[in-house]
Amino acid sequence: MQKLVIGLFGFGTVGEGLWNVLKNSKTVDARIKKICIKNPDKPRSLPDLYFTTQAQDIIDDPEINLVVELISGGEDSYSIVKGAMQNGKSVVTGNKAMLAYHIEELIQLQKQYGVALLYDSSACGSIPVIRNLEEYYDNDLLLALYGIFNGSSNYILSKIFNEGMSYTKALKQAQELGFAEEDPRFDVDGIDSLYKLVILTVHAFGTYVSPDDVFNHGISTLSPDDIRYAREKNKKIKLIARVEKLPNDKITMFVMPKFVGQEELVYSVENEFNGVVIEGQFYDKQLMYGRGAGGFPTGSSVLSDITARAHNYTYEYKKLNYFVPPVYTTENLVEVYLRYKDASDLDHFRFAEISERYTSKNYSYVVGKIRLSNLLIATEYIQKLKVFIAVV
Ligand code: HSE
Repeated sequence: MQKLVIGLFGFGTVGEGLWNVLKNSKTVDARIKKICIKNPDKPRSLPDLYFTTQAQDIIDDPEINLVVELISGGEDSYSIVKGAMQNGKSVVTGNKAMLAYHIEELIQLQKQYGVALLYDSSACGSIPVIRNLEEYYDNDLLLALYGIFNGSSNYILSKIFNEGMSYTKALKQAQELGFAEEDPRFDVDGIDSLYKLVILTVHAFGTYVSPDDVFNHGISTLSPDDIRYAREKNKKIKLIARVEKLPNDKITMFVMPKFVGQEELVYSVENEFNGVVIEGQFYDKQLMYGRGAGGFPTGSSVLSDITARAHNYTYEYKKLNYFVPPVYTTENLVEVYLRYKDASDLDHFRFAEISERYTSKNYSYVVGKIRLSNLLIATEYIQKLKVFIAVV
């Protein structure tokens, strides 16, 4: 087992928790040598000698062989991670935004500099999705991967559906409980789920798709009418991220709310919990369920990546290296419910077919099939017109 000397970036809840866990750990020989922080004036629980505000104090220290990056900023994180790898250090990070945009380059850097980058905590908190995709689902039987990847929005939807709580109050609670992002729009608008979907797709199918090219629609335009529609059909609404294989060696992806019935595995995934469904040839469906948000669950995942590194673990990117990755498409049809206000709102959406239509003064919707590419183009209008779309 490798002895780890760690340079830590960020000393918030997860960072401080990690310090305490590593200090008492009997399973890993790891010591945190230096901690890089932004604000030197904040009172800290450790002596000053541990802290620095200069990233280079860690990146240039030859004794440090693992960088653990736990800061929130995307671009700062990118330069830290890249700099550390270029200096021959392996890295553990949970920074989903940074990974979702830079993962392709970071995979190359791992090869070039012979270092490892581990980031299981970036997608679905304490659920070990990435390592399972790498080690168990390392063949071409996988057909789809989908589920609830964002704890805060799931918390809000659970409170609305199970307790009749208002959207605003539920969001406030999710923030108070420490599940939400600094800017909660990332949670409720589906962006956080999207970042996780992009990362998981690399490990599930070997294909990298930029977050900018994937349709994502969250729950911020949800109205009482949509909730009533779901209830009348005996369904709940869940925010689902999905990647699936299509017949012609292609994959398609989206993040969208979905009307979910009792027969679906994600129906009972409530509150801040995440549920990842893996569908495959021969094994039908499997559910990975667990805590996806909060300091401790995330911290346990970071610890697991550190321990893995002590055993010299590295992702092999099997789907990328040993398979021909499928091509991404948005030309497939999805069946959706679209609630709108004015008849002219529908001009932005070209439905291939419509199976249900309802119009009244204050509430109108259509249910029908539409190309994902059309939804992607209409993204700006969806927010502007405050329409709500959900997969049926
Ligand atoms: N804000 C995220 C969530 C945290 O609610 O799931 C975990 O990534």
